[in-house]
Amino acid sequence: MLVSLSTLTSVCLVLTSSTSALLAPKPFTQQANDQFNALRYMGASGAFHENSGVGISKDTPPQCTIDQAHMFMRHGERFPSASSGETFEAFFKRLQAATTEQYNNPFGFLHDAEYFVTNSSDYEHETYYNAYAGLADCFSFGSDLRQRYNHLVDTNRTTPIFSAGQKRVVDSATAFSQGFFGNGYSGDYQLVVLPEDESQGANSLTNTVACTNFDGDDNYEKVLKGENYQYAQYEADRLNQLAPGYNLTASDIFTMVDYCAFETNVKGFSKFCDVLSPDAFVATGYHIDLRNWYSQGPGYNMSYVSGFTLANATATLLQQDNEDSLYLSFTHDDDIVRYLTGLGIFDDEPDLDKHEINFKRAFKIGEIVPLGGRLLTERLSCTNATSGETDTFVRLLLNDQVFPVPNCADGPGFSCPLDDYLELAKTHTVDYKEACGIQDDVPNYVSFFWDWTEDKYPTVADAE
Ligand SMILES: *[C@@H]1O[C@H](CO)[C@@H](O)[C@H](O)[C@H]1NC(C)=O
Ligand SMILES: *[C@@H]1O[C@H](CO)[C@@H](O)[C@H](O)[C@H]1NC(C)=O
Ligand SMILES: *[C@@H]1O[C@H](CO)[C@@H](O)[C@H](O)[C@H]1NC(C)=O
Ligand SMILES: *[C@@H]1O[C@H](CO)[C@@H](O)[C@H](O)[C@H]1NC(C)=O
Ligand SMILES: *[C@@H]1O[C@H](CO)[C@@H](O)[C@H](O)[C@H]1NC(C)=O
Ligand SMILES: *[C@@H]1O[C@H](CO)[C@@H](O)[C@H](O)[C@H]1NC(C)=O
Repeated sequence: MLVSLSTLTSVCLVLTSSTSALLAPKPFTQQANDQFNALRYMGASGAFHENSGVGISKDTPPQCTIDQAHMFMRHGERFPSASSGETFEAFFKRLQAATTEQYNNPFGFLHDAEYFVTNSSDYEHETYYNAYAGLADCFSFGSDLRQRYNHLVDTNRTTPIFSAGQKRVVDSATAFSQGFFGNGYSGDYQLVVLPEDESQGANSLTNTVACTNFDGDDNYEKVLKGENYQYAQYEADRLNQLAPGYNLTASDIFTMVDYCAFETNVKGFSKFCDVLSPDAFVATGYHIDLRNWYSQGPGYNMSYVSGFTLANATATLLQQDNEDSLYLSFTHDDDIVRYLTGLGIFDDEPDLDKHEINFKRAFKIGEIVPLGGRLLTERLSCTNATSGETDTFVRLLLNDQVFPVPNCADGPGFSCPLDDYLELAKTHTVDYKEACGIQDDVPNYVSFFWDWTEDKYPTVADAE
């Protein structure tokens, strides 16, 4: 059939006019702008953002109820550590000193800028003001999660809130609890603090502290010798051309991305983020993932030892009906990464290559443990409307989006049948003390989920 030119022209006119403000907004966006969200590439230093997800509804499937839930959450947005602070301040001063009378370059803003941590007693702690305030985020997530899990709170009992001992983790757990139990919500809680101490052995939310054989940093240094920094070098070259005399190196680009992340956590923005190109964020994100893969993830065999210990404790609870049905725990990024590793979530992933970026990898630290990152494990009791039979399933939500278990997503809401989930959790069975090389009389298993009622744990943070 012949289509006349005038018909085509009018079709084009109709298409063009559909962007008019007179029409209703498009129900489906035709753009993919979120891939440029720098927070996705800041690894564990970036402010909280949801996992990209795969489109599955996070509503509990209609034929199911959640009858047990677990959370592993890391602390919220924070100030840099004192040691990163030293690096950042030296970096800032070096670049500021290079900013002489030539302000007409990307670093001109440094002329009258101030280093972003103005009181060194803020180092290590949660941020408490501006757009990405860590304590405010923990509070509001606590309040939101209560709505989802309200039916699991037994207001006649005290609900435990488990926390690793470091002050910022306990502060996050406290802010979360104020949201979860505060204001109009009823119920009491007790902080159950697991000191970040060797004497805890495996009965800990930070079980590598006691694990003598664990040295993730040593492993990645061995494996990543000769890592190719060419992608970051392109960015250094670009900036050195625009700003001669600043002498930026590839490793400065990684420092700048981290600086941008932490300054944003503190001030709500950072001009260093504006200087960097999207490609620099992509390159840095991969570099961060590489280091984690070989120090806390599948590229280091001791990651499984640490992760299995907690994954097995959760799997054990999933087979029980205890008086408690909510297990809310606060810890650190590395512990959550190892948990997922020990559970076998990344078993099908190829080792990350130290030269070529694997763009399709599932192992993206910025998507797994941004600041305030959280993993929910929900046990679902589902009734088949046809047969009337009830079955049990498990579903994971990572950073507030459903995270289907690889090769196990044929249940309601793409959940994993409990028995299959338990099989998966056994894949990396190991003896903690033996693999860690510990002779001491320290615990070899997690017991705090069960024996916290015996009042044997502290309720305050470790001394800093
Ligand atoms: C950059 O390198 C040049 C040449 O080596 C040197 O003269 C200059 O002082 C360096 N600038 C900075 C800011 O380090
Ligand atoms: C720095 O923070 C500490 C602890 O919050 C506070 O006691 C001190 O007064 C602050 N110093 C300045 C100069 O604001
Ligand atoms: C809590 O205690 C009250 C009073 O003893 C009782 O009526 C209620 O059923 C209890 N609730 C639960 C969830 O056990
Ligand atoms: C529900 O039960 C019917 C009848 O036994 C069965 O054919 C069907 O596969 C079940 N549905 C699911 C999702 O298990
Ligand atoms: C990890 O690998 C090292 C070196 O190959 C080996 O000596 C060690 O036994 C392994 N540990 C575990 C827990 O598999
Ligand atoms: C799994 O965890 C439970 C509870 O901590 C413990 O009793 C059991 O021995 C563990 N199983 C293995 C294989 O480590």
